Amino acid sequence: MTPTVATTCADPVILDQWHPLLPLDEMTADNVGHTILLGEQLSYQLDTDGAPVVWLAADADATALPVLVEYLYVWVCLGSPPEALFAIPEFAEPDRRNIHAGTIGVHVSAPRAIENFLDMGHFPYVHTDVLGAEPHTEVAEYDVHIDPDTNDVWATECVFYQPRAATTSTEGQMSDYLYRVPHPYCVILYKTTPLAAERMDVIALFCRPIAEDRIEAHMFLCLLDPDNSETVIRKFQQTIFGQDKPILENQYPKLLPLDPRAETPIRADKVAIAYRRWLSDLGVTYGVIPAA
Ligand SMILES: [Fe+2]
Repeated sequence: MTPTVATTCADPVILDQWHPLLPLDEMTADNVGHTILLGEQLSYQLDTDGAPVVWLAADADATALPVLVEYLYVWVCLGSPPEALFAIPEFAEPDRRNIHAGTIGVHVSAPRAIENFLDMGHFPYVHTDVLGAEPHTEVAEYDVHIDPDTNDVWATECVFYQPRAATTSTEGQMSDYLYRVPHPYCVILYKTTPLAAERMDVIALFCRPIAEDRIEAHMFLCLLDPDNSETVIRKFQQTIFGQDKPILENQYPKLLPLDPRAETPIRADKVAIAYRRWLSDLGVTYGVIPAA
């Protein structure tokens, strides 16, 4: 049976989240822009002070929705937002390059995109000779936990052989990975940086749900890469995500099944199982097929 795809969002858990609308530098004071979030048509513009204003396009009074500017993006909430967004302290480090690497539209649910981002097993096959290569195909044992203070999902102690882990790579390396899911539709990856032994590059995917089965994924980078141009860095990231897009669009069903018996354990590995259970515990129903 094909699951029903909702046209608007009635899920209070998702309505009450901050959602990444677009990069702040794509908003202007001269023109009103239009976009879609959770099936709702939104309009936006910078005000005369340069602050972003977002409203429901159908609202004759153009009542401003709650907005937040964080990590280069304008975040919007259609319900009652939390006071703050999740913290990425590396963003403020003076030697970091904070870069919006691009936005890619994908015909899939946000949870499917997050789960794919969490999956190391596809590196050698989908990102061949960049993020993985045969015969180094085995995903070694790693740890998963939920942070008791923030309720973020973490996967730690992840290690994977990568032929070309970053734009700063000069040779293959064993990359250490930490994955963090601080928001149902956002995921952050911390990974070995070739230039600094004790620090990690930060790579995040912030998904804007257009509809239940359609997203625009913003790729955010917070890197230790002093030399490469933004063009080179963006192209590297866009190439990788461009390889994921057709895989994601072939996922069936497009909504993520939360029933633990719905898909084989090979596809749903340890962190994926934790993410699905975490979405269930949060009560998320939009973009997923809830467990019976
Ligand atoms: Fe991928």
